[in-house]
Amino acid sequence: MAETSQISEQDARDFLFFDDRDDTRRVVVQTQDVRKVYEMGKIKVHALRGISLSIFEGEFLAIMGPSGSGKSTFFNMIGGLDKPSGGKVSIDDVDIAQLDAFELAWLRCRKIGYIFQSFNLIPVMTCLENVMLPLTFAGVPSEQAFDRACEILRTVGLGHRLTHKPSQMSGGQQQRIAVARALANKPAIVLADEPTANLDTKTGQEIIDLLVGLCTDMNVTVICATHDMKMLDKCDRVVWIRDGQCDRVEERKNIEIQVGEMMSHE
Ligand SMILES: Nc1ncnc2c1ncn2[C@@H]1O[C@H](COP(=O)(O)OP(=O)(O)O)[C@@H](O)[C@H]1O
Ligand SMILES: [Mg+2]
Repeated sequence: MAETSQISEQDARDFLFFDDRDDTRRVVVQTQDVRKVYEMGKIKVHALRGISLSIFEGEFLAIMGPSGSGKSTFFNMIGGLDKPSGGKVSIDDVDIAQLDAFELAWLRCRKIGYIFQSFNLIPVMTCLENVMLPLTFAGVPSEQAFDRACEILRTVGLGHRLTHKPSQMSGGQQQRIAVARALANKPAIVLADEPTANLDTKTGQEIIDLLVGLCTDMNVTVICATHDMKMLDKCDRVVWIRDGQCDRVEERKNIEIQVGEMMSHE
């Protein structure tokens, strides 16, 4: 009896809340009741109906949902590419609506790297020039920009294709250029909108593995809007979006069995 009374309140607390210790992870992006209404004449489209979410440093978050569910709209809000009609998006505890044009440009150029479904490369520029572009925008001197672009292109496996134009490369290679371009300024966050949608299964898997590597090797936070079920196998958490609302958030370790089931029904 005497022994039980020696357990301090702190010990009991540590024991009881042991599973919650993971929540010391730093929140990089936070959305609070984010809403978006597109007005087209008299028609109002409620694309986002209040999404509240905390995204942690170094995690790979998949935003899953069918076409038209609001993934790209949410992507644009998190990335500071469009303004919500209501609610708040904070990056590193700063409400991005409070940023002036210069600060917002800095955020888009230095803090976040963007990857799109259709690669969005500049066709008249070589692979190297495409990756050097954001470095030039960031004011990096050309010699340094050249070295950095070469280094990052080697990292994504394109060190031997520096002078090729995008049209001379496969879809998978073009998306690798886009990944390299997104990484050029060493962003803390990489936002990808359906990065595997235009790729075959094998090439898509390679791009997913490349993105997973960013999280584990560089502690980059990767946020990926997708309806590619292959992503479920690799991400840390999944946010399921339906009709502009967050249906549920799941840790990957809890969805593994369901993935098998879903894949088998495809
Ligand atoms: N610029 C826009 N103007 C009007 N409606 C839009 C616009 N962009 C998206 N929408 C509508 O908002 C909803 C969500 O679209 P979107 O975010 O693109 O979905 P997803 O990326 O999941 O396919 C859809 O109903 C779509 O038609
Ligand atoms: Mg979309």
